[in-house]
Amino acid sequence: MRTILLFISVSLAVSAVYSLDNGLARTPPMGWNPWVRFRCSVDCVNYPETCIREELFMEMADIVASEGYKDAGYEFINMDDCWMSKQRDAQGILQPDPQRFPSGIKALADYVHSKGLKFGLYQDMGTETCDGYPGIWGHIETDAKTYAEWGVDYVKMDGCHNLGPTLFGEGFVNMTRALNETKRPIVFSCEWGFDMRLHNPNYTDIALHCNSMRQYNDVQDSWDQVINILNWYTGEQKVMSQVNGPGNFIDMDFIVVGDFALSYEQAQSQFALWSIMSSALLMSSDLRKMDPKMKEILLNREVIAINQDKLGKMGLMIYSKSPYEVWAKELDNDCFAAVILSKAYDMPHNFTVTMTMLGYPSQPYAVRDVINHRDLGTFVKDEPLSLTVNPSGVRMLKAVPSKKKGFKVY
Ligand SMILES: *[C@@H]1O[C@H](CO)[C@@H](O)[C@H](O)[C@H]1NC(C)=O
Ligand SMILES: *[C@@H]1O[C@H](CO)[C@@H](O)[C@H](O)[C@H]1NC(C)=O
Ligand SMILES: *[C@@H]1O[C@H](CO)[C@@H](O)[C@H](O)[C@H]1NC(C)=O
Ligand SMILES: *[C@@H]1O[C@H](CO)[C@@H](O)[C@H](O)[C@H]1NC(C)=O
Repeated sequence: MRTILLFISVSLAVSAVYSLDNGLARTPPMGWNPWVRFRCSVDCVNYPETCIREELFMEMADIVASEGYKDAGYEFINMDDCWMSKQRDAQGILQPDPQRFPSGIKALADYVHSKGLKFGLYQDMGTETCDGYPGIWGHIETDAKTYAEWGVDYVKMDGCHNLGPTLFGEGFVNMTRALNETKRPIVFSCEWGFDMRLHNPNYTDIALHCNSMRQYNDVQDSWDQVINILNWYTGEQKVMSQVNGPGNFIDMDFIVVGDFALSYEQAQSQFALWSIMSSALLMSSDLRKMDPKMKEILLNREVIAINQDKLGKMGLMIYSKSPYEVWAKELDNDCFAAVILSKAYDMPHNFTVTMTMLGYPSQPYAVRDVINHRDLGTFVKDEPLSLTVNPSGVRMLKAVPSKKKGFKVY
């Protein structure tokens, strides 16, 4: 087995930050999207519960607003593919499917806004969306204007059926300008990096035109795919951390906590890892059927606070020796966070961390377990902190300089 030992001084990893200058996404976007759970379910007769139609988004908005999600920071109710009619109208304006969205998109956006939430729409920088609905190609300015008129606050731009790297990138640049010209603040979430990742993408250019960057494969309702995505972003952490920051964050794709595949430990792991890496936190699950234990994970404010930390640093992997991997993230107020992941498949084992190993040898820290909401004591330099980590589980820590007077760990 290959052993890798990496010790990066996290506090020195300060880098230039590139982002779209529209004042938005100063912390990673949080919200809900139907894709993982509801896909392109358009047969409302046989599958009324899962059908992509206005009622589904209204129900989710109701739940996000009334069951604690909004208070925890979830803000966007987003659409994914399959909301459109197969044809634009005679003026070239996009239409929603008339059977499934009879009230129109403006009415749905108004409903979401009436709950104190924001509304997001999906489109594709190509001739068709991934599921064969009208793409934006040839209609960039018109669609941007339409979205603004409808009251859209977030646009996810996919990349199926595109016309190759050069035109694709030009399209994104034009869309950024078209959105800006509407004068409406609209978060622009780009799959530019993802679709161009085999064409040596210029991540700086992407970061300058987007608020959120999908750079890699779609997540699935699968632990293997969660780990695959984690491995990719970790492998690219040097590049990603240079373009990630306030105004523009990586989007590792949806949080599948509360879907079918992840165990309780795995669900804690995805949420902790996406949080420490400063990914967008977009839930994609049936909130009407949320298991209370999974909901507790999604509403863990101590973990969310680490994701939403205002410095906007990306967590970096600082240690990897099978079966453990450790990430650390610099936080505001001289604090830091860490996640220890166990990829073991036999039993819980203890793993020992020290402040030196985590990259913070300079002073004593009060350390808190943010998943179990417990203070663990004060540690300095090489003093050992032994933590039991379950198979495919994590421990997540927040460390606060212990000499800071009157400053609480949380
Ligand atoms: C982008 O906008 C420029 C200027 O209006 C135009 O010449 C160009 O064709 C557009 N490209 C795409 C791909 O939309
Ligand atoms: C448009 O761009 C300018 C300059 O980058 C920026 O200051 C402004 O906030 C943007 N406005 C919108 C609505 O995106
Ligand atoms: C990448 O994009 C940035 C920003 O647009 C630009 O300054 C830089 O020259 C580009 N790099 C390459 C290698 O094209
Ligand atoms: C293992 O860690 C637990 C705390 O998670 C601690 O109580 C126990 O003493 C540790 N065991 C060893 C052998 O270090």
